Amino acid sequence: MERITLMSVLLTVVVSSSPRQYHFVNQKKNWTEAQTYCRDKYTDLVSINDMNEQNDTNQLLQRVNISADRVWIGLQDAWVWSLNNSDFYRGDESQFRKWGPDQPNGDGDCVYMKSDGQWHDMKCDTQTHFICYNGSSKGFVPVQEQKNWTDAQNYCREKHTDLASVRNETENNQIKNIINQNLTSPNQAWIGLYRFWVWSDNSNFIFNLWKSGEPNERATNYRICASTGISEGGRWTDERCSVQHLFVCYDDKLVLIRENKTWSEALRYCRNMSMDLVSVDSEQMQQRVMNVTSSALSDHVWLGLRHSCTVGIWFWVNDETMCYDQWASGYDTGLDDCDTTVRSGVIRKNDNRWISRPETDRYNFICIK
Ligand SMILES: *[C@@H]1O[C@H](CO)[C@@H](O)[C@H](O)[C@H]1NC(C)=O
Ligand SMILES: *[C@@H]1O[C@H](CO)[C@@H](O)[C@H](O)[C@H]1NC(C)=O
Ligand SMILES: *[C@@H]1O[C@H](CO)[C@@H](O)[C@H](O)[C@H]1NC(C)=O
Ligand SMILES: *[C@@H]1O[C@H](CO)[C@@H](O)[C@H](O)[C@H]1NC(C)=O
Ligand SMILES: *[C@@H]1O[C@H](CO)[C@@H](O)[C@H](O)[C@H]1NC(C)=O
Ligand SMILES: *[C@@H]1O[C@H](CO)[C@@H](O)[C@H](O)[C@H]1NC(C)=O
Ligand SMILES: *[C@@H]1O[C@H](CO)[C@@H](O)[C@H](O)[C@H]1NC(C)=O
Repeated sequence: MERITLMSVLLTVVVSSSPRQYHFVNQKKNWTEAQTYCRDKYTDLVSINDMNEQNDTNQLLQRVNISADRVWIGLQDAWVWSLNNSDFYRGDESQFRKWGPDQPNGDGDCVYMKSDGQWHDMKCDTQTHFICYNGSSKGFVPVQEQKNWTDAQNYCREKHTDLASVRNETENNQIKNIINQNLTSPNQAWIGLYRFWVWSDNSNFIFNLWKSGEPNERATNYRICASTGISEGGRWTDERCSVQHLFVCYDDKLVLIRENKTWSEALRYCRNMSMDLVSVDSEQMQQRVMNVTSSALSDHVWLGLRHSCTVGIWFWVNDETMCYDQWASGYDTGLDDCDTTVRSGVIRKNDNRWISRPETDRYNFICIK
């Protein structure tokens, strides 16, 4: 019977964007260490893709009541190619670099090649020759006109494919020769490399909330990362990634929903978000569930644990059999009141043990991706 009910719930699933659980980490780490920590314990350093996510982060910082300290978010600068179709690069080809000595030296956020084949950074509004890549002819096209980097990019995208990417030494030599043979002085040209912001979780950089005057760090031989804070609505600043700050992680795999719902409503809620009520199949998962449970508003939290009176067993909603358990002592599979109420499993907040409750009780619950 219960199986049939679960099936019909599955069919009414509506997909919506997946929610996140935010975690403030009260330890100072440099950006890379913070990233490792978040990827290890949760999903990643927090990315902020719209004002709602910024507000969620602000609220978390207010709740934990940090001082005026800056807090790392998952944003870091990187040199990236204008042509960012991943099929275009094999292996490490998108990482090929041919910087001149002491380059990049903070002169600007766009890159040009000199007649000796070495790369230099320069202000993007400088006008110079440029090299396009034409995907149809699979060749490099020198452009004699002088344009700033953005205008050059537009030109190449319109007339060819994009500004030239350089994938290895061979291509670097090809472009070097073109610069020397096919361009008039100055013998230099924009290529498609520029400095841009990338999120640790690879979400597109479509939203920003820089403080006025920021970002203002120059790109030299160190990386630059972004932080938020409690002041000015969380507006961002940029700084060296080697600085140590507190940080915020997020988890979109395990999410506590701080609303009171019956077990069936909770299951429907999770599945509507393409998630499921959590199954706890190992000590490691029990630990993660315990951490999330600690910030629940109800004293019990629903798990994806259901009792079947017909068969007389407990089962997980993801169909896994129960190999691991944390029943409170005295709780076992035998239930006397099977005829009157359908029972589901909760984790008890005060000792993290599992007990059974009538499924019509209303508690917070944990969804998992
Ligand atoms: C490039 O030049 C155009 C005008 O031709 C200007 O609108 C644009 O802002 C310039 N871009 C940069 C990055 O300087
Ligand atoms: C570049 O590619 C376009 C098609 O995208 C083609 O029409 C054009 O002839 C090519 N130009 C050169 C110089 O190869
Ligand atoms: C350079 O990259 C191009 C494009 O992937 C490839 O066709 C060529 O064989 C590469 N040359 C060397 C020497 O690796
Ligand atoms: C560059 O110039 C040489 C002749 O000086 C010509 O053979 C070659 O096709 C030109 N290359 C490009 C990519 O225009
Ligand atoms: C599923 O999610 C959508 C959009 O988020 C919402 O409008 C709808 O009411 C939800 N349905 C259920 C059964 O929760
Ligand atoms: C759970 O929280 C404790 C203390 O807050 C922490 O030491 C532990 O690493 C966390 N475990 C997981 C799996 O997140
Ligand atoms: C949920 O129920 C608990 C009692 O179990 C109550 O203290 C809490 O305020 C309720 N939360 C909400 C959001 O209704």
